Amino acid sequence: MYEKREMTFRVFRFNAQSDYLPAYKRYDLTVSKEEVMLDVLNRIKWEQDPTLSYRRSCRHGICGSCGIKVNGRAIVACKENVWQLAELYGEEMVIEPQDTRLAYKDLIIDKSRFWESYRAVTPWLEGPVEEKPQKEHLIEPNYAEQIDEADHCIQCGSCFYSCPAAAVNEAYLGPAALALAYRFSTDVRDKSHANRLRAVNEPGSGIWDCVKCVECSETCPKGVEPLSKIFALHNQTFEAGVHKRNVATRHAVVFKRSIEKHGPLDEAENVRYSEGSLGALRHMREAFAMLRRGKLPLPGRVHKSHNHSEVKTLIQSASKNKF
Ligand code: SF4
Ligand code: SF4
Ligand code: FES
Repeated sequence: MYEKREMTFRVFRFNAQSDYLPAYKRYDLTVSKEEVMLDVLNRIKWEQDPTLSYRRSCRHGICGSCGIKVNGRAIVACKENVWQLAELYGEEMVIEPQDTRLAYKDLIIDKSRFWESYRAVTPWLEGPVEEKPQKEHLIEPNYAEQIDEADHCIQCGSCFYSCPAAAVNEAYLGPAALALAYRFSTDVRDKSHANRLRAVNEPGSGIWDCVKCVECSETCPKGVEPLSKIFALHNQTFEAGVHKRNVATRHAVVFKRSIEKHGPLDEAENVRYSEGSLGALRHMREAFAMLRRGKLPLPGRVHKSHNHSEVKTLIQSASKNKF
């Protein structure tokens, strides 16, 4: 005997060829405990409204085509149990495309920019390729482990369409492409390590434009953890010596130095070093406001944390970079 639940779904409907504005259409369904969100879309289409359009293919979380948003949260529809979503959102849910601005038919969006970002990071191994290899080109298990997580990406776009940096900056490559850049820059068989790092090191489009909000890692259905790959790329650019001196890289340098020196951050020195003395002048108003409220120590008066030697040892053992 199945358990059932009465639920309501308000689904984004829009046809770019004929509609001026989108509308949200209501569908009521009795949903059983096992059903995933893709079952809901299929049942709406097959039982109530054959005009509903959405992408799907494998139904096993492999092809990445069924990415949508439910109550604003990016999901892969065939992986997300509806009852579990109801624990978060209750019995009424809003189903939308990953980016409503890009919809051309209901839940189907134009993903061109997402794919262009992929192409921009040269998503294949570069190096001498045997035309007719006689055996696999194996690598040591520890090298394989370093790329394993990033290799699980199914190109669903959940991270990209949840990323605030990508939403406001058309040039930003975004979390999925950067995770893929890491996948190849870390592969010991690849011969374009430095060139790959230079390509993602460009101000305005690359790794330094991530605002570290963690949204991509939280939303990824395959555990790719794009943010950790972006951090790894930061380190790789320093290790390979291809980083450029700019506000972002100076900020990374002074951040580490400050923690190593004090434990807590020396906020004033962080701004001065990252932006230069002239640049820091722009922040004087905020600095005085923070000083008045006791949120900024006076220059040279940053307290050391009580476990400072432990912090220092941790920083030194964790960092391979010589800034
Ligand atoms: S952590 Fe960076 S890449 Fe990930 S969603 Fe936030 S801004 Fe985008
Ligand atoms: S990194 Fe994760 S969320 Fe982003 S496209 Fe790949 S599988 Fe989807
Ligand atoms: S249909 Fe393939 S991932 Fe959902």
